[in-house]
Amino acid sequence: MKILILNGSPHAKGATADMTTAFAKGAREAGHEVNELRCAFLNVKGCLACEYCHEKEQGVCVQNDDMRKVYPEILSADMIVFASPVYYFTLSAQLQTVIHRTYAIGIPHNVKKTALILSSGDPMVYGPAITQYWQAIVEYWGCENAGIFTACEKTNYTEEKRQELYRFGKSL
Ligand SMILES: Cc1cc2nc3c(=O)[nH]c(=O)nc-3n(C[C@H](O)[C@H](O)[C@H](O)COP(=O)(O)O)c2cc1C
Repeated sequence: MKILILNGSPHAKGATADMTTAFAKGAREAGHEVNELRCAFLNVKGCLACEYCHEKEQGVCVQNDDMRKVYPEILSADMIVFASPVYYFTLSAQLQTVIHRTYAIGIPHNVKKTALILSSGDPMVYGPAITQYWQAIVEYWGCENAGIFTACEKTNYTEEKRQELYRFGKSL
């Protein structure tokens, strides 16, 4: 499978990256092709809601920014892993912006499976992020949810959490 990780953390070596790295290791060992995009290090602007993508050139966003590199990755992926720190109970703005910009291409029908990885401070904050993932991705995109993984202050950067993510990647 071609697996795309969309990582919304601005910390290159943060807690979210700690989990995506372990996941990617397992998935690569299982023979999958894994590409991780760090949304926070891309130049991606918010959707303009101009409807150019629907009314002028179907599926083409009028904005000339790094989404031009992200669109082909999304459209060719078999699986997408959404990974983010929890910011104010939901996904980071950096990841959210990339998700909003998929408005231009519509539902990426090649993507069959998705997963969600969240890192937070508190252990009781995942409701809104999981609800959004479930409604916007699993239900709206029509994907199979392969797993939801969370780590909080007590479990961020732990070997146990890395093993959990590694095993998940390896199991695919
Ligand atoms: C702007 C901002 C908002 C945050 N909001 C929450 C929150 O609502 N709940 C929570 O438990 N942690 C919150 N946090 C803490 C991060 O989710 C936590 O530190 C996370 O492990 C960071 O992951 P990273 O190292 O991959 O960036 C917030 C942090 C920032 C910077």
